[in-house]
Amino acid sequence: MADVETQIVKRRLPGDRRSDTRAMIRVDQAGETGAARIYAGQLAVMGGRHAMAGEIRHMAGQEQRHLDGMNGIMVRRGVRPTIFGPLWHVAGFALGAGTALLGPKAAMACTEAVETVIDEHYGEQTVALADGSDPALRAMIDDYRADEVEHREAATAHTGGGAFPIMEAVIRAGCRAAIAVAKRI
Ligand SMILES: [Fe+2]
Ligand SMILES: [Fe+2]
Repeated sequence: MADVETQIVKRRLPGDRRSDTRAMIRVDQAGETGAARIYAGQLAVMGGRHAMAGEIRHMAGQEQRHLDGMNGIMVRRGVRPTIFGPLWHVAGFALGAGTALLGPKAAMACTEAVETVIDEHYGEQTVALADGSDPALRAMIDDYRADEVEHREAATAHTGGGAFPIMEAVIRAGCRAAIAVAKRI
């Protein structure tokens, strides 16, 4: 009976704010999938010879490292991926390609918006893990977050900051909604 009670207590209820590292890994793996696909979409449109392509390829390589890391920890810990994985795959590419079609500055504005949300998101996880409950995950998050901040700052250097305010607000809202969904399912 005690076991059943423990299980009930341990189950996460909607609105439960305690840190749940399995949900963290699920949402982070989904986010890194989306990020890798955004840069892939941008490169597909811009081609290898564009002046910004080298910089974007560098970011894409870092996103692949993040994604490999999240895939690894997900498998090691037996965390199931979000059921919306295929959607992140397609939506990320579409977002990258779509903004790149508007021009290099719009592509960088997209990066600025996405990385702003990811920095916030990883920052919240760092705070949640400050209790020392999962040092391995926290080290990964802090490591990746430093890259995300670098991406955002590189993008802002190109746009001057907030060059496409409405588009960026829509992208930020979309990213926040996707994170909220991936935490649960
Ligand atoms: Fe990343
Ligand atoms: Fe990034």
